[in-house]
Parts: sequence; structure tokens; C-alpha cells
Amino acid sequence: MKKRVLSGIRATGRLHLGNYLGAVKGMLELQDNTEYETFYMVADVHTITTPYNVEELRKNRREVIVDYLSAGLDPEKSVIFQQSEVPEHMELAFYLSSVVTIAKMQHLPTFKDKVKQYPQHATMALLNYPILMTADILAYKAGFVPVGIDQEPHLEAAREIARRMNQDYNTDFPQPQSFKTEGEYIPALTGKGKMSKSVEGSYINLTDDLETIRKKIRAVPTADTSGGEKSEGLRTLFIFLKLFSPESSGEFEKKFESGSLQFVELKDHITEAIFKELEPIQTDRKRLETDPAFVDKIIKNGNEKAREVAKKTVKEVREKMGLA
Ligand code: TRP
Repeated sequence: MKKRVLSGIRATGRLHLGNYLGAVKGMLELQDNTEYETFYMVADVHTITTPYNVEELRKNRREVIVDYLSAGLDPEKSVIFQQSEVPEHMELAFYLSSVVTIAKMQHLPTFKDKVKQYPQHATMALLNYPILMTADILAYKAGFVPVGIDQEPHLEAAREIARRMNQDYNTDFPQPQSFKTEGEYIPALTGKGKMSKSVEGSYINLTDDLETIRKKIRAVPTADTSGGEKSEGLRTLFIFLKLFSPESSGEFEKKFESGSLQFVELKDHITEAIFKELEPIQTDRKRLETDPAFVDKIIKNGNEKAREVAKKTVKEVREKMGLA
């Protein structure tokens, strides 16, 4: 049997460079490897675990899929779908929640962070976030999950839940492992923390044009002297340089050390390199935008294929738990 892969991105907005490097590149790599069977979804139900706008969500649960397709996810090779269209995920999450304690979920760092960010919204949905994510993965018995490093606590929870289920109910769930990509930690353009949709000025959109990228990259704060210790912003720039133009990384490091580095030269070099990678994605997106019926058909097909697999797993779980 082929090894199964599942991954997803929340529908909080259009994809940015952090999603692309941290998750989508890993998805692409596994999709092209014939040893794997790949399932990629938009985690639209996870979006409602923090405050959101209804019309934005309605739009983004489709837009993320169009971003996936433009970035190279291929419906001939991967099952591309919407989480909410496979209600078995939510059903399975409830069954799984019976082997998880409240205390365990309250102690996850990801839960604590979100509660700090939205103190008025410490909801049950938020507490259940990792259990739904586990259901996403286990509904397909996926052992590999291409995600960024920040998702490790969730995967650890998923492994524990899988173990408990196997022990208590004799299921055969795998222990899901993260699949690491080179760009698994993408810093914010502000120089502080990771690139995130929820921090203004921290991200580059996949749809940004050359001049927008230039403006954003030029705005990354750098120290005013070359040489010596690198500032946070400068470290960020060198991370981008390594990701998008590894061949010129040595040359710029040397210039920095000798004190002759012109920051604007480094910034413009990075800008060009990022744009070069994004340009074909943008061209593809424009083409897809002219054919909404084609996109709708891909989504409908993907949803149906995913549901078939998830249904089988849920049926099995119900039988093993005494619910059928
Ligand atoms: N929690 C993930 C994130 O924020 C999104 C997600 C939801 C996911 N369900 C998943 C990722 C299942 C991988 C597998 O990035």
C-alpha cells in the first residue's frame, strides 16, 4: 500500500510566502513522489476556531484552493478538497475526543498562544482544534504531514491520540510524522517572530508584484552599519537570500563581513529572486481565474474522493467503538 500524506492550511486569507515555503513546497515534493498518495485540503472548519468574518471565509475556502492549483498542486496526482465538505472529519473528531483529557489540551502551547491573542474567545472549538486536526490526518490514516515546525505540538497530540485509539479500540492508525521542508521557519519582514497573516507588514503575498515586493523588502529594518553583529532584520534578509538565491549567499556574506555591503543592493537582489519564483504562479492563477467552472469541477471531484476514503475510516471506528 502507498504511504498516505495529508496536509492543510487554514482559510484565513490568500496564501503568503510563509505558507508557500513552509507547507506548499513540501506538499509539491510529496505529490511528485509516486510512493505517496497525497491529500491536500483547505482547513475551513479550523478557521472558525478564532474570530472571523463569514463572507471572507466563504471566499477564502475557494481562494486557497485556487492558490494551491496555481502553485502546482495537481488534481491528477493529489486529492484536493475542502475540509467542511467531508463532515466525517468532525464526526471522527468527536469520537477521538473521548480519549483526550481537557488538561492535556489546555496545556498545548498553541492553545495558550491563541488564548493570549484572543482572550475573549477561549472557546471549546479552540480547545478542540488539535483533535480536529488529528481527525483530518487519521481519517486518511496518513503517516506524513508536510507542515511548518510550529505544528509539532499538534502532531505530538495526534500521535498520542492514535496510540490511545489503537490501544483501547484496536484500530490501526499510524503515528503521523511531520515532513520537513527547507523553509519551515519563515521569519516576519518586521524582523520579529514568524511571517503571519495576522501581523500587518510581516508577509509577502503570492500575488504581490515586483514593485510591491520591492517596497516590502526595502522596508525590512536593517542596522545602519555593515559588518559586525547582524540585526534581526538583516538575519531575516539572509534567510531569504539562502532560500531564494542560495548561489549568491556566500558572496553577500563576504561583503557583509568586509563591511562593504550595500543593504539596498542585497534587498533588491532578494526582491528579484523572490519575484522570479512567484511569477509563474501568478501567471497560472490568472489563467485559472478565467475558468471558474474548471476550478469548481476540480473541487467537487476532490471533495467526493476524499469523502469516500474518510467514510471508510469512520465506519471502521464506529464498529470498533461499539457504535455499529
Ligand atoms: N493547524 C494547521 C496550521 O495552522 C492547519 C491544519 C489543519 C493542518 N488541519 C491540518 C495541517 C491537518 C496539517 C494537517 O498550519
